[in-house]
Amino acid sequence: MRFGHFDDERREYVITRPDTPLPWINYLGSEEYFGIISNTAGGYSFYRDARLRRLTRYRYNNAPLDVGGRYVYLRDDASGDFWSPSWQPTQRELEDYACRHGLGYSIISSRYQGISAEMLYFVPGGETLEIWRVRVTNERAEPAKLSLFSSIEFCLWDAQDDATNFQRNYSVGEVEVEDGVIYHKTEYRERRDHFAFFACSEPLAGFDTQRDAFLGPYRSWDRPIAVERGASSNSIAHGWQPSGSHHVRLEIGPGETKEVIFLLGYAENPRDAKFDPPGSQTIDKRLVRPTIDRYLQRAVVAEAFEALRARWTDLLGICQVQTGNEHVDRMVNVWNPYQCMVTFNMSRSASLFESGIGRGMGFRDTTQDLLGFVHMIPSRARERLIDVASTQLPTGGAYHQYQPLTKRGNNDVGSGFNDDPAWLVLAVAAYLKETGDTSILDVAVPYDNQPGTERPLYDHLQRSIEYTLERRGPHGLPLIGRADWNDCLNLNCFSETPGESFQTTENRSGGVAESIFIAGLMVLAANELADIAALRGDGAGAARCISAAAEMRDVVAQHGWDGAWFRRAYDFYGRPVGSAGNDEGQIFIEPQGMCIMAGIGLEDGRGRMALDSVRERLATPHGILVLQPAFTRYYRHLGEISTYPGGYKENAGVFCHTNPWVMIAETRVGNGDGALDYYLRINPSAREDLSEIHRGEPYVYAQMIAGKDAATPGEAKNTWLTGTAAWNFTAISQWILGIRPEHAGLRIDPCVPAAWGDFTLTRSFRGATYRIAVRKQPGTSGRVTRLRVDGRTVGGNLAPLPPSPGAEIEVEAFVEATP
Ligand code: GLC
Ligand code: GLC
Repeated sequence: MRFGHFDDERREYVITRPDTPLPWINYLGSEEYFGIISNTAGGYSFYRDARLRRLTRYRYNNAPLDVGGRYVYLRDDASGDFWSPSWQPTQRELEDYACRHGLGYSIISSRYQGISAEMLYFVPGGETLEIWRVRVTNERAEPAKLSLFSSIEFCLWDAQDDATNFQRNYSVGEVEVEDGVIYHKTEYRERRDHFAFFACSEPLAGFDTQRDAFLGPYRSWDRPIAVERGASSNSIAHGWQPSGSHHVRLEIGPGETKEVIFLLGYAENPRDAKFDPPGSQTIDKRLVRPTIDRYLQRAVVAEAFEALRARWTDLLGICQVQTGNEHVDRMVNVWNPYQCMVTFNMSRSASLFESGIGRGMGFRDTTQDLLGFVHMIPSRARERLIDVASTQLPTGGAYHQYQPLTKRGNNDVGSGFNDDPAWLVLAVAAYLKETGDTSILDVAVPYDNQPGTERPLYDHLQRSIEYTLERRGPHGLPLIGRADWNDCLNLNCFSETPGESFQTTENRSGGVAESIFIAGLMVLAANELADIAALRGDGAGAARCISAAAEMRDVVAQHGWDGAWFRRAYDFYGRPVGSAGNDEGQIFIEPQGMCIMAGIGLEDGRGRMALDSVRERLATPHGILVLQPAFTRYYRHLGEISTYPGGYKENAGVFCHTNPWVMIAETRVGNGDGALDYYLRINPSAREDLSEIHRGEPYVYAQMIAGKDAATPGEAKNTWLTGTAAWNFTAISQWILGIRPEHAGLRIDPCVPAAWGDFTLTRSFRGATYRIAVRKQPGTSGRVTRLRVDGRTVGGNLAPLPPSPGAEIEVEAFVEATP
């Protein structure tokens, strides 16, 4: 069952009924000002940091789930009847409800009693404000007298404090209202130089800034008293809950449309020019007022919206494919890169599953997010790489997280997640291959942000590999530390105390727990670093990496192989984890994907064998499970992984982040049918028909889909902010469709299903545009062995670097059928 449909032409998902299984959300803003918006206008906004600069309130885990938003109300002043054109919060029955989630904007529209309304929400480029453009059309035969109310509830900036510190907060709220603009200025008098503004393009019949005055005592957002009686009370908040509402009266003739613009924004004043007049406590509005005036103009709004659409056309134009498979095309061309942008911007901070107050930026998360983003805005990727590397520790280890505002490592979580540093190498490699900008390797980057410790970024990469080599256990495999990619496989934790963190508590020291996953990752990273060393002419460095990788490969062959798949780890006592000899958790997905991606087992057939085991034991119609059999009880020596009920999260859920590793592995052994099959199992568009089971948004990936041991198999959770976005984009674009940026050119190495025939792609790369036509006989398998590049035949499958920037390069790639 579906709750809407894709509009591929407009790059929108159109939700056609408001009562989706869960709020289906979208993101506004992609620079400094951000918002979340649901299909019924729920959500909130913030400036840069979702915890510390939260503009509006939102109530997580409430009933209904989605409370707090950008609500507008319409009231028929003749009858007194009122409704929300976004359905929530009044839930009046609407005609023709639609929510179009687009790239950086949402449009919610509906009709009620002959009055149709459409709200467009977006953040204009380069600004720290959001626009709500409301259009109201009278489709009745008679003129209509209506009242339009806007509404928001301000957050007192620090969202954590806002939700807990009521003894203080109920007394500190302050606002100003001037020329129809509502200013929220709590704490402005002392240590904050910033405030929020909420403006309206029309003359006001009234306003409210005290929540209780607007809603009325003991009332909720479904029937605000101001809306019910058709009049605001011009309340000024003193403490309690500052809010914002404008009241506009509209007289609309039959067939006529009126447009009203609301702006909600964030502004900062210089510390020494905060007040006007100086010495008063009144906000100096001279800096912000011109911006407000500008965006209250219709033409400016229309132009900014067109600019946003054009911006996305450019960004998406970098990689476009026409394969004839609608799920591939729409995810690769539109939604997957869009999600990659969102994960790059948000990391794991703000979604319906991340409250915006919890985590900093993960070292491994942000480096992996970059893999799906780097082709879009390489300059931002470069900046991020330097930021992340600056938090690296002198040992080569990493803080597991850092705080985006301070860019400092987070001491509470600390380090010792032994996979972390290796991801930095993969991220820098991806940046170099995309851009060819080797100057980044010479940038002087500090360790742990300590002045005086600066070393070239290249040195950081070397220490990343050294870190792993210096921490090896009895089998010669990398020590796992607190955890590797799987945060919940805590082999040194042994926790028995409620509330204790499984990641940061190590109750046993001297453990020898080792990770085969990190071994695979290290081989992959060391090979990348060898290529980078070669680029720099550091032959000795390259040789060291190659021999370290070869040595680790041998160790994996000897101690990492279980007979039909790769083992997962060795525990604190040196016993295998993820082995046929275990009662539960006999096979794990991560080492199968990672080792084969690293090329381990390709020559001796073990890779193929491991993938057969994955297909037999882990693959389900809803995706590939993390492990089998699920853990049915708590194993102290395995940690958090065995705390989850079977089928959820790391305990045998489909953890979607890992599935693309197996897709890539399938391409490494030449199985295009298998790779695409797995790709489509978790592709959200391909699951659209199952929306009542999947329940998450059909246009973005989820972190997890419940596995077969769960009570709700196929149910997705934690949509949007997941490494799944970057890795699926990598798997489909670089390995299945096979367009892979490399240091020396653009590799064209598709590995697609046998049934496929010709297909075409466009890829901008190093300033040129490659138009690629893949020539393939349907019904055959094989790889590209020959190219024609601008009419000249090139052996192999590497399209050379562009002769000059701006070049348009025509490539034909011929797949040679293998008998
Ligand atoms: C979450 C974390 C990520 C981790 C994964 C598996 O997605 O953000 O860092 O690798 O869970 O535990
Ligand atoms: C990751 C995992 C989650 C775990 C958490 C612990 O996000 O996905 O399952 O609980 O790490 O910090």
